[in-house]
Amino acid sequence: MPRPMPLSMPVSRILTALSATVCLAAGLAAAPASAESRPASAESRPGTLGELARKHHKYFGSATDNPEFTDAAYLLRLGSEFGQTTPGNAMKWYATEPARGVFDFTAADQVVAFAKAHRQKVRGHTLLWHNQLPAWLTEGTWSAAELRAILKNHIQKVVRHFKGQVIHWDVVNEAFNEDGTYRESLFYKTLGPGYIADALRWAHEADHHAKLYLNDYNVDGIGPKSDAYYTLIKQLKADGVPVEGFGIQGHLALQYGFPADVQQNMQRFAGLGVEVAVTELDIRMTLPATAEKLATQATWYADYVKACLAVKKCVGITIWDYTDKYSWIPSVFPGEGAALPYDENLRPKPAYYSIKEALGG
Ligand code: XIL
Repeated sequence: MPRPMPLSMPVSRILTALSATVCLAAGLAAAPASAESRPASAESRPGTLGELARKHHKYFGSATDNPEFTDAAYLLRLGSEFGQTTPGNAMKWYATEPARGVFDFTAADQVVAFAKAHRQKVRGHTLLWHNQLPAWLTEGTWSAAELRAILKNHIQKVVRHFKGQVIHWDVVNEAFNEDGTYRESLFYKTLGPGYIADALRWAHEADHHAKLYLNDYNVDGIGPKSDAYYTLIKQLKADGVPVEGFGIQGHLALQYGFPADVQQNMQRFAGLGVEVAVTELDIRMTLPATAEKLATQATWYADYVKACLAVKKCVGITIWDYTDKYSWIPSVFPGEGAALPYDENLRPKPAYYSIKEALGG
């Protein structure tokens, strides 16, 4: 993955500095320091999605990824419109522990520095997942004792590094199959289902304040997979295991229908005493995008936002990047795309306006 220079100065400040230079060069007085010359953030620009969500005591965020940090126009909107960010890849195991016991936080630190400069909350994603693991881990042969030690060390090194800087950790990502049985990941096969409780306990030891989440897709509505999480979280709570949130990824597709019971599903998790977050929302369609499909997409985004607003313990929504220019969809679902609220030229689509309206803007 290319690793551009860290960009910790807000883009808006760079632009402000540039415009001051232009003013001076033109013989004009530079504008006095004002609200406009402060770094733009979701807090200082009322009417952004981040600011509107904050009025409901929730966040509205966007994932991002390091290769995008060379795109100034992209960063300007990322830093100003959103109150939260999630590194799309930079905190995954392959990136953070590329060789056994060798940790590299360069990419993740870059995202966290950007977030800090723009006063954005950060979700940590993800400590344990069956995908994007380093080859040394997947190609090795491990006894249960060895793998436990590797897991504990990985979780605690990563969580300690970001202590105080992330609000949530997706501790375990995608632990269940569609039918609600445990996914046969390396962790499950070697350690059994107890690896989830262990991972949560180890993460909690390393940072008492970050809220610890289980995160998955196709768990928007009530069904075998979300039922499996409901049962597991109930049991973990009963056992005193530090699980504090349920992450609903929310990768929807127009051809599969809207999960009409998403609010009811969020509410039942809230009833277990955990918070809920919409962690990776995007709504894809079969290409080409038509005005009609974009209108349906806009309604779905608004309905998803309204569901979260209606549930007190739904703490926020993250879209899985904000522009079709950088969406993961076309590379993973051939022939599909147009999943995000901004088009490939960073222009807002109908979905942007419907989200804004749903948030009261
Ligand atoms: C995706 C990233 O966006 C891509 O860049 C990467 O190639 C694959 O992973 N569910 C998750 C995310 O939990 O981590 C995935 O992110 C999307 C699906």
